[in-house]
Parts: sequence; C-alpha cells; structure tokens
Amino acid sequence: MELVNSTTSAMRPYPMEELAKIKANLSKAGKPIFDFGTGDPKIPTWAPIRDAMLNAVPQISQYPSVKGSESLREAQWGYLTRRFGINKSTDIGIIPAQGTKEAIFNIGLCLIGREGKKHLVYPDPGYPVYRASALYAGGIPYPVRVTKETNFRLEPWNLPTEIQKSTAAIWINHPHNPTGATASFDYWQQVIDWCHKTNTILLSDDCYVDIYDTSLDTNIIKDPRKDRRPLTPLQQSSDRVLTFMSLSKRSGLTGYRSGMIAGDSRIINAILQARANFGVGSPDFIQAAAQVAWSDETHVEERRKIFTHRLNLAAPYLQKLGLLDAMPEAAFYLWCRIPKSFSGDDVKFILALAEQGIITSPSTWLSEGMKGYFRLAMVPDDQATIEAMEILSKFVAKHS
Ligand SMILES: Cc1ncc(COP(=O)(O)O)c(C=O)c1O
Repeated sequence: MELVNSTTSAMRPYPMEELAKIKANLSKAGKPIFDFGTGDPKIPTWAPIRDAMLNAVPQISQYPSVKGSESLREAQWGYLTRRFGINKSTDIGIIPAQGTKEAIFNIGLCLIGREGKKHLVYPDPGYPVYRASALYAGGIPYPVRVTKETNFRLEPWNLPTEIQKSTAAIWINHPHNPTGATASFDYWQQVIDWCHKTNTILLSDDCYVDIYDTSLDTNIIKDPRKDRRPLTPLQQSSDRVLTFMSLSKRSGLTGYRSGMIAGDSRIINAILQARANFGVGSPDFIQAAAQVAWSDETHVEERRKIFTHRLNLAAPYLQKLGLLDAMPEAAFYLWCRIPKSFSGDDVKFILALAEQGIITSPSTWLSEGMKGYFRLAMVPDDQATIEAMEILSKFVAKHS
C-alpha cells in the first residue's frame, strides 16, 4: 500500500538529519562536539531587530498579507539601492518570503511547465532544495557539476541543445554554497544573455551575497563592473530575473524565517497570487524585525568581521595539511579535499572525524554523487575553531 507518493518515498534523508544522529551519539558518550556541519552560526541577534519583533507582537492576532507591508518594502528598496545601486522601478517587484528555503521550493510550482518546459537546471554540488523543488513540481531536475576549472560557475551555454530548449528556469548560486565562489559582472551578463536567448527564467540564490571578506568594506566601488563584493544579476537586468535574498546569513535570523524575492514585476505579480495559496505570508512581527534588519548595515559588518576572522584562523591549518587550495571568495564555508589515505570516500572520512567530535559535511551529501571533499561551516567560535583544528591536524597526520 502506498501511503505517500513516490516523490516522497524516494526523498533522501536530509543531510542535516544524518548529522544530528551522529551528534546525538557523541553527546550520549559525553564527548565535546565541534559542529562545523550546518551553516547556522550561533551569534546573538542584533538587539534592535529582536526589540522590533517583540514590540510588534499584537494583542490580537490576524493573518498577515502575502504581499507584506509597504514599510517593509521601502526598507528592502532602501537596501537594494544602498547595496547594489538598484533604483526603485515599476519593472521590479518585491515580496517577502518565510526564509528563502520555502521560496526556492515553491517557485518550482510556479515555473515548471511554462512554455511546455520541464527541466530545472542547478549547480551540483549545491543547495539540495533545488532538486526537491523540481521533483515535487513534476519537473525534471538537471544538476550540472560545477568544478574548479570554471571557478564553480555553471555554464548553461555548454549544455546539450535539447536541454537548453527545455529548461523552464535555472538556479545560479554565487556566493556558492559550498565553495564560496563568486561570479563576475561578465559572467552574469553571459548568463542573462543566455536566459534571454533561450527564454529561461534566471533564479539567483543570493543568500550569501553580504557575507564577504571585510577588507572589501574599506573600498566600496559603486560601479558593479569594478565592485569586488558579490553581485546580484538584478543589477544588470530584471527581465526574467528573480533574486532570492535572505536575512538568515546577513543578519543571523535563521529562526525568524525571513527573506525576499525581488525581480521581474510581471513574474512577481503572478506568483503573488499563487503564494496566497501556499500559506507563506510572513507574520507581521517578523516583518517588523525584517524592516530593521534590511535598514541597517552595521550589524552585518560585525558579522562579516566574525566570519572573516574565523576563516583566517582555520584556513592555515587546512592549507598546511594540503586539504585547502585557496581561501573562499565569500560566504562562511571552507571547501576542502579529504586526505588521500581515505581513497576518495568522504563519508567514511567525515564519520571518522566525527568520532573525534568534529562534525563536517561530506561532498556526497551536498551533491549528486561527488566524492572526495568536505565542507566546514564557520559556526564554532574562535577558541573552539582553534581546538578543533588542532584535533583535525593530529587526526589527519595519524591517517596519512
Ligand atoms: C545556498 C542556500 N540557499 C538558500 C538557503 C536557505 O536559507 P534560508 O531559508 O534560511 O533563507 C541556504 C541555507 O543554508 C543556502 O545555503
């Protein structure tokens, strides 16, 4: 008897659940845990954000609007203009999201099948929700392996012609989870031109766009051709372009579930109607907190300092061990090779490392079959990072 449909029964366990099991066993045994697994850093929320949320909790609770408040949209416009030089225009619409995860998942339901096109193209390794979105929307997932050779950039113009024609939408994610690779102005232009030529919707997962090396804050260049901070394609075109931006990484609001979809107003207006059915209206008190978060950069600069520092603490250990080729360009991950002695078996490696109390994510769980790499999310604090790197160094030395 089938109690659930085949898409559901074929779902692979979500990687974080696997990690949770390993961690539970470790804590049962009373061992210290250094958790570099999930990208969910434990940094206190900036007080004005928390206060705005608390002050907005109403006496009487009512349904939030799917469109969100005018004042939140103003704050989001302020951010887009300040950070990216994107000026207010009727060509661009904005709607709030309950975190980008739901928006990434639900957009598949709105786009797959348009013009009879069924494929959803996305980078591999990458965020696993792109695939789930395609499957649940009755589409065909089309992962494209991205490699160091192209700086982890997906090049859709090299896909088979049939796939290029049948792609409803393409996900691009820079800064890229898990490698931290960024995209240049010229690359974005190529992708935009390809999307226009093939009539594909460009979906840009810009979740990490504000997590970059602090040195770039001292020399902000407004011209996107020269700006070395991560870019969004919305700076170059809004025609068939949607960007998904999050307060999870920028402001550390993972538990608030808050983000936005901004882009082509024709698509935004259409999906607004659809989203009324999805039950994803952002609660008013979360919108109040989000308004404060999008309006301020100081707390984001503080977060960047923390991640830049942690990355610089950990990287030399991994470089010395020959596991890390280069510093990530952005985001807060280190994407490393596993030691040769594990013969490419990244799951075996991370399980063995977990026995030492160090939790990381293997490439197999972050991709569709990519072996030999692992990812560290800079979640533990400075002291724990150093301790963990000492343990990791000894562990690798023992196994080489
Ligand atoms: C690449 C990428 N996109 C989207 C998300 C979802 O973020 P949120 O739903 O918290 O906005 C994540 C979370 O880790 C991510 O790594």
